Amino acid sequence: MRLIVFGGWGQLGTDLAATAAGRHELIRPRHSELDVSDADGLAAYVRDQAPDAIINAAAFHKVELCETDPARAFTVNAIGGLNVARAAAAIGVPSVFISTDYVFRGDASGGYVEDAPVGPVNVYGASKAAAETLVLGADPQGIVVRGSGLFGHAGSSGKGGNFVETMLAKARAGVALQVVDDQRFAPTATRDLAERIIELIERRVPTGIYHGANSGSCSWYEFARRAIELAGLSASLTPRATEPGPVRRPAASILLDTKSPGVGMAPARPWEDALSWYIDNRPPTS
Ligand SMILES: NC(=O)c1ccc[n+]([C@@H]2O[C@H](COP(=O)([O-])OP(=O)(O)OC[C@H]3O[C@@H](n4cnc5c(N)ncnc54)[C@H](OP(=O)(O)O)[C@@H]3O)[C@@H](O)[C@H]2O)c1
Repeated sequence: MRLIVFGGWGQLGTDLAATAAGRHELIRPRHSELDVSDADGLAAYVRDQAPDAIINAAAFHKVELCETDPARAFTVNAIGGLNVARAAAAIGVPSVFISTDYVFRGDASGGYVEDAPVGPVNVYGASKAAAETLVLGADPQGIVVRGSGLFGHAGSSGKGGNFVETMLAKARAGVALQVVDDQRFAPTATRDLAERIIELIERRVPTGIYHGANSGSCSWYEFARRAIELAGLSASLTPRATEPGPVRRPAASILLDTKSPGVGMAPARPWEDALSWYIDNRPPTS
C-alpha cells in the first residue's frame, strides 16, 4: 500500500517508517513542506499522491503551550485533523488520527474503554477530543487511535525527547529525582503503536476509536523506577504528589483495549516488556 504520514518525521512517525519498511510505501512530507492546517494545500497534495490510506501523527502537543495558545492548539490538532480526514474522504480512502488519553477526565481508576465519554481537563485534551469528533464525522472510513506517554528511540520532536530518556540522563548525571506517583496511565512504545496502526490499516477495520497503548498501567514514578532499573542505573528516586500548576492533568487515564479480539488482533504486550525492549535496543549514542 501507499501511505501518507503527516507528522512522519517525529517520534511515532520514525517508528511508522521502520515498521512499514519492506511492507508498504511511506510518503512523509516534512512540516516545512506541508502544514496540516493548510486545507487547500493538503487536499491538493493528497489528490496528487493518491495514497491508499493517510495517517495523521502531526500535533501541537506541548500541554503548557496549548494552555497559553489555545488557538494554535485547535488550529493544528482539531482543524488539522479535520483537514486530513476531509482530504482522505474526498478520495475515498481511510484516515487514521492519532489521539491521546488526555481526552479523558482522569477519574476512572480502572481505566477507560474506547467509547467511554470524553471529558478533557486541559486545552490540549480538548483540542484532541474535538479532533476525534471532527475526524469521525468527516471521514466515513476514519479511525482514531489513542496512545499515552509515548516513548520511542527518536524522541518527540514537539516535546524535545521523551520521559524515559530524561529520567536516564538525570540518573546518569546523579540528579536526585522526585517523580509524581498520583497520575496513572498506560505507557505506549511507539514501535508497538506503529505496528498496531499499520495492522489496523491492513485489516481495514471498521471506522471508530481504537486504543493503542501497551497493556497494564503505572504511575510516572513507577515508570521511571523501572526504566532506571532496566538500564542498570541507580538513582535517588522518590515519589511525590502532583502540585497545582497552570495545566490540569488527568489523575488516572489508563487506556483499555477491548476491540482487538473483535478485529482479529492480539492485545498489546505489557508496558514492562515494551520498556525492556526499548532499553535493550537503544541506539549506542543515546
Ligand atoms: N508524545 C506523547 O507522549 C503522546 C501521548 C499521547 C498522544 N500523542 C500523540 O501522538 C502523536 C505523535 O506524537 P510524537 O510524540 O510522535 O510527536 P512529535 O515527535 O512531536 O512529532 C510530531 C510531528 O508533527 C509535525 N508537525 C507539528 N505540527 C505540524 C503541522 N501543523 N503540520 C504538519 N506537521 C506538523 C512535527 O514536525 P516539526 O517538529 O518539524 O514541527 C513532528 O514531525 C501526536 O498526535 C500526539 O498528540 C503523543
